[in-house]
Amino acid sequence: MLKYLFFAAFLLILLGIHTFVFWTLLTLILQPDALHTALVSASVIMLTVTVFILFSKRISTSLLRVTLYSTGVWIGTILCLAHSSALHQLLHLLVPVGRPAGLTIVLGVGAALTVYGLINAACTKVERVTVRLPGASSSLKIAHLSDLHLGAIYQRDFVEKIVRKVRELGPDLVVLTGDLPDGHFDITGEMLAPFCELSVPVYYVLGNHESIAGIPMVLSAVSKTGGAIRHLRNEFTVFRGFNIVGLDYVDNRGPTLQRRLSDTIPALDTTKPTILLHHVPCLTPEQLGEYAGTGGILMLAGHTHGGQMMPFQPLVWLTNACFAGLYSYRRKGVDSHVYVSTGVGAAGVPMRVFSRSVIGLITVTGLAEC
Ligand SMILES: [Fe+2]
Repeated sequence: MLKYLFFAAFLLILLGIHTFVFWTLLTLILQPDALHTALVSASVIMLTVTVFILFSKRISTSLLRVTLYSTGVWIGTILCLAHSSALHQLLHLLVPVGRPAGLTIVLGVGAALTVYGLINAACTKVERVTVRLPGASSSLKIAHLSDLHLGAIYQRDFVEKIVRKVRELGPDLVVLTGDLPDGHFDITGEMLAPFCELSVPVYYVLGNHESIAGIPMVLSAVSKTGGAIRHLRNEFTVFRGFNIVGLDYVDNRGPTLQRRLSDTIPALDTTKPTILLHHVPCLTPEQLGEYAGTGGILMLAGHTHGGQMMPFQPLVWLTNACFAGLYSYRRKGVDSHVYVSTGVGAAGVPMRVFSRSVIGLITVTGLAEC
């Protein structure tokens, strides 16, 4: 029920944004009598396209990939035009703006944001972070990938590019914190095969998109890597003196995750440093500190995409305990940290405006190395 409400709200927001953009553009171009028909027609057409992308299932043909990419770019373009339209309306309130100047602002700023969003999403940066945990007897370099969103747009060539970058970084291990698939699109073992080229362990936990795509389908694709990717499903392992804990996706309600932590942590030697993998950053470092032993604890998460595109940043910031980057808490021998990746891929729309595509390179050191 909740997902249908979310879907309906999403479509209403998209319809509203389309209407706002067309209303701004058409009042700058047409006479008022043409406005109504054009506005309704365009909104209905765009709504139909949106339904198409959300319900399309098969991604096997390159034609469909191009179609879905174009649709994603269109939705991103409309979001950019909404910002340039809002800028125009704001300026028009302060000082009268003529039609040619108005069109230049709306189309010029909208086009610039669109191009920036496409290039920005395609350029993945390495975010280097150092975290000190008292129990670490030696340093550990972790490549953190989150939110690849493979499927309609991002496919094997994208995975190859990311894995190549990871290999150049020379990590001790790689972690994947969920959202391997995008929406209800299938992923395959062939898409994930580049991970087999890594000579270090790859630990993986589920995200919310795995539930949409179908967890058995995703795990079947993961199993075809022949163990190159290891799914940690509410379990832990010990790697080079670090506890690596992987917990299944639970939603934004922190108490659910806290209950799961309460079940898992007692089995660990918490004099060792603990790396917790969970898709949603639904605990603050202070809350996480309740589970830190003397070894300290670091949670690696994703999910937020850093908002991915304006205007979603404020909404995502308000609804997540941690939004992006590193959050730390140190008090009375408690060392707890939450690092939130803004993700490598992009959901639905292959664009990012004011958020970056990142590979996190987390170096965990002991206090003696400060
Ligand atoms: Fe995601």
